[in-house]
Amino acid sequence: MEDLALYIHWPFCLAKCPYCDFNSHVRDIIPQTRIAAALRTELAYEATRLGPRRLTSIFFGGGTPSLLDPEHVAALINDAAKKFTFADDIEITLEANPTSIEAGRFAGYAQAGVNRVSIGVQSFDEPALKFLGREHSAPQAIAAIELGRKIFPRLSFDLIYARPGQTEPVWRAELNQALTLAADHLSLYQLTIEDGTQFATRYARGEFSLPSDDVQARLYEATAEEAAKFGLAPYEISNYARPGGESRHNLTYWRYADYAGIGPGAHGRITLNGTKLATQKHRAPEPWADLVEANSTGETVSEPIDPPTQAREALLMGLRLAEGIATTTFKSHTGIALTDALEPDILTQAIEAGYLTHTATRLTATPEGAKRLDALLPALVR
Ligand SMILES: C[S@@+](CC[C@H](N)C(=O)[O-])C[C@H]1O[C@@H](n2cnc3c(N)ncnc32)[C@H](O)[C@@H]1O
Ligand code: SF4
Repeated sequence: MEDLALYIHWPFCLAKCPYCDFNSHVRDIIPQTRIAAALRTELAYEATRLGPRRLTSIFFGGGTPSLLDPEHVAALINDAAKKFTFADDIEITLEANPTSIEAGRFAGYAQAGVNRVSIGVQSFDEPALKFLGREHSAPQAIAAIELGRKIFPRLSFDLIYARPGQTEPVWRAELNQALTLAADHLSLYQLTIEDGTQFATRYARGEFSLPSDDVQARLYEATAEEAAKFGLAPYEISNYARPGGESRHNLTYWRYADYAGIGPGAHGRITLNGTKLATQKHRAPEPWADLVEANSTGETVSEPIDPPTQAREALLMGLRLAEGIATTTFKSHTGIALTDALEPDILTQAIEAGYLTHTATRLTATPEGAKRLDALLPALVR
């Protein structure tokens, strides 16, 4: 039986951040009890069809899962423990926002079984937090990290850089502050303008501009340099960890192994009776809950993925990793030999240009190649 990762989506936030296109919703009163009950129902549905599998990670993502009371988190973890076999070193992560109310719940989450938090800090600069529409201050973020480090064995936090007007020295200084506070993991994202967000409208109106491609590339290189000084290596394009601090849950996605997703809008990639399925749940919270209450699941998509699509997905995910793609894992997950999934001419050109390295056992993007993956992959993948 293949190991499994479990993703649980909590779809509510206190406010919608202007840059964010995640499936997150704001309500005057969050229907917490109803949604938590529906998550438990959908978890039972997944467990029934998946059968007894070994669970290597659980990830409470959002939205803002730190708005969910610890008792509900505990109930979901207990259900999962009854229905699956927990790996000895199971990683249970919860995404948290650093307001003081949410940090106040940290002990409750730890008691529920959460052993890793991922805190959405975004910046330590007050004007930047304001620009990003965040509800917390820099001192609150620092306090949440310090408290989190005392309570959880593992901790990560997110920052968004390459913001309007951000220069390399200013970013290096902010990053150094982050690195002195960091535990075993950091996610460092470049600001992207996503369609349908408030930023997309304001950016189109010319209200702000982003650093040029050259500056963004320099900021990216500076990020890896500063992180290395503190012993954190980029194991994925935007993720940095000390050895052993890598997010096991996210590695499951990038290595194209099986994960089940429950909650509004959650995706899954699960193998049932030897067939890999793509699954998706209804995106809107209340209609999703209606479906779960009627049918035990809010699933709207469940379809077999053909081997060429699997190969494409596995390449898109795996080349983001510094470790690249292992030839044997690729074959066992997709049924296709790695070389058969690639355009030979483009592969040769990309190797000669220094964007990829290819050995008998692995295909890996070089740091230069990692910067160009979006441009490279459509031509490379058959
Ligand atoms: C689901 S959110 C994190 C959890 C939590 N709701 C929070 O905001 O603190 C995942 C992360 O993606 C990053 N992110 C979201 N939209 C982004 C964008 N347009 N550009 C760069 N990073 C983004 C942020 O760092 C955010 O913390
Ligand atoms: S960034 Fe986080 S808090 Fe902000 S809207 Fe997105 S999910 Fe919610």
